[in-house]
Amino acid sequence: MKKINRQIALFVLFLFLLNLFPLPQKTFGAWREPVRAKRGMVASQHELASKIGVEVLKKGGNAVDAAVAVALALAVVYPEAGNLGGGGFMIIRFKDGKTAAIDYREMAPAAATRDIFVDTEGNLIRGEGGSTVGYRASGVPGTPAGLDLAYQKYGSKKILWKDLVEPSRLLAQNGYVLSYRLAELFKSYKGTLEKYEDSKRIFLNGGKMFEEGDTLKQPELAATLGRMQKLGAKEFYTGRTAELIAEDMKRNKGLITLEDLKNYVAKERTPLRGTYRGYEILTMPPPSSGGIVMLQVLNMLEGYDLRKMGYNSAQKHHLVAEAMRRAFADRAEFMADPDFAEVPTAQLIDKNYAKKRAETINLTRATKSADIKAGEVTFSEGTETTHFTVVDAEGNMVSNTYTINDLYGSRVTAKGTGVLLNDEMDDFAARPGKPNLFGLIQGERNAVQPKKRPLSSMTPTIVLRKDGSVWFALGARGGPRIISAVLQSVINMIDYDMNIQEAIDAPRIHQQWFPDEVLYEPMGMSPDTLKILESLGQKFGDRPINIASATGIAIEEGTGVKFGAIDSRSDGEAIGY
Ligand code: GLY
Repeated sequence: MKKINRQIALFVLFLFLLNLFPLPQKTFGAWREPVRAKRGMVASQHELASKIGVEVLKKGGNAVDAAVAVALALAVVYPEAGNLGGGGFMIIRFKDGKTAAIDYREMAPAAATRDIFVDTEGNLIRGEGGSTVGYRASGVPGTPAGLDLAYQKYGSKKILWKDLVEPSRLLAQNGYVLSYRLAELFKSYKGTLEKYEDSKRIFLNGGKMFEEGDTLKQPELAATLGRMQKLGAKEFYTGRTAELIAEDMKRNKGLITLEDLKNYVAKERTPLRGTYRGYEILTMPPPSSGGIVMLQVLNMLEGYDLRKMGYNSAQKHHLVAEAMRRAFADRAEFMADPDFAEVPTAQLIDKNYAKKRAETINLTRATKSADIKAGEVTFSEGTETTHFTVVDAEGNMVSNTYTINDLYGSRVTAKGTGVLLNDEMDDFAARPGKPNLFGLIQGERNAVQPKKRPLSSMTPTIVLRKDGSVWFALGARGGPRIISAVLQSVINMIDYDMNIQEAIDAPRIHQQWFPDEVLYEPMGMSPDTLKILESLGQKFGDRPINIASATGIAIEEGTGVKFGAIDSRSDGEAIGY
């Protein structure tokens, strides 16, 4: 009896102590804490790339220098998406408040025409010759030019270009050990990679295939990096690398010529600015649709109390899906390369416009996508990707997303260069009004045109605190699902007080107008919630799938401590010092 009394007393004491020192409140399930560092940090999808970036920071380079080194390293160690043969977008926010947006999206070759991917019967050309696989699928790469622009204009000038390239050149030359994931991924892309001689030799071990633990060496890529190291990034566009790409294109009825490479330009754009519940958001303007769509959805959601609805409630999912449905309808109609088509950006991200758009949302009934048209604007105003985030000890932040589109891009490695080329031509509307690789419908404004940049969904983003200091930066991979991942992570931070790791890991949904369905994640939604949403008229895909994958870094208020997070849905590592 005495023993039982003692046990009860101990239990009461335990409850008392628990009350005094409560365990941290979590919003769902089990998870990791974000990685913590006092000074600088890199969060990328490969540990080796993050390490290389951190070394640059330790040597006194700023976040931009480190970002350039990380991008070069990912081209070697993360070949499914890291690249020299693709393009992307970089948002920079310096500690003094200065911002920049670098657009290094691919450009259509001069010989590209509106119907290049349509056969005589009006059908989309599939496979070789189409917009996703083979030599004609590639736009003119922008990555070397974009990294060069960032480095020249915004680098610290304390780190030499050759020193930024050297770690990646060495990794390509000496090789690195393949993880299980990467070895298996090569195998699953065998069917298309093996069609292209250099891709087969380099990534499929000449057809023998690689296993986990094997070392992948890329001597041609090392030589390409060596030439760029010696002669600058322009070598890619005007030197031996350019000749090799153009010769291979010519031999294989590709479109990219030496002239196209010579004419490629990375551009500076003005970062898109918006607010959500008073927090300023810096993100990418067109030719990415990511920033506009995200801000449109956030503007629509601002009129609702998401916190009260509850993080994983059916009502909140319904509302987010309905807002996304409307913003993606606008994406299809209005968004494209602003140098070729008028994009009514200011109107689309206007809060009053969002209010009007949100008035059509019925909280008790899903609107059929077929019944949603793009909003009214007046024109009065002028599968796979990778994101990394870098912050230096000063607090300068870089948010960069770049890609070769599908995993391994067009699957073509330009002969003799080791450079995997993108299949970004699929981000154009090959047949306006008909779906692309991601099932996305796009409009006439995004039709193929020479020298035009295809519309993107990349959403590198930086969010500021109300005092103007940087709170967090993030971005994601995953085609149009990038927008959903970034936008819901932002909501998770702002409305649900999650930390950066929780915000990125938390289950999310995706709705992109057409197909008229909501995507949801494994373990992301209970059967009861699904039933409620179905009763509201939401339709779902056959099975849950992962929705994009994000990386990000947050800065703690007051202390300046950095917290880095890699999505549980993918590999990578946040490393700080
Ligand atoms: N290639 C995917 C995107 O740019 O959105």
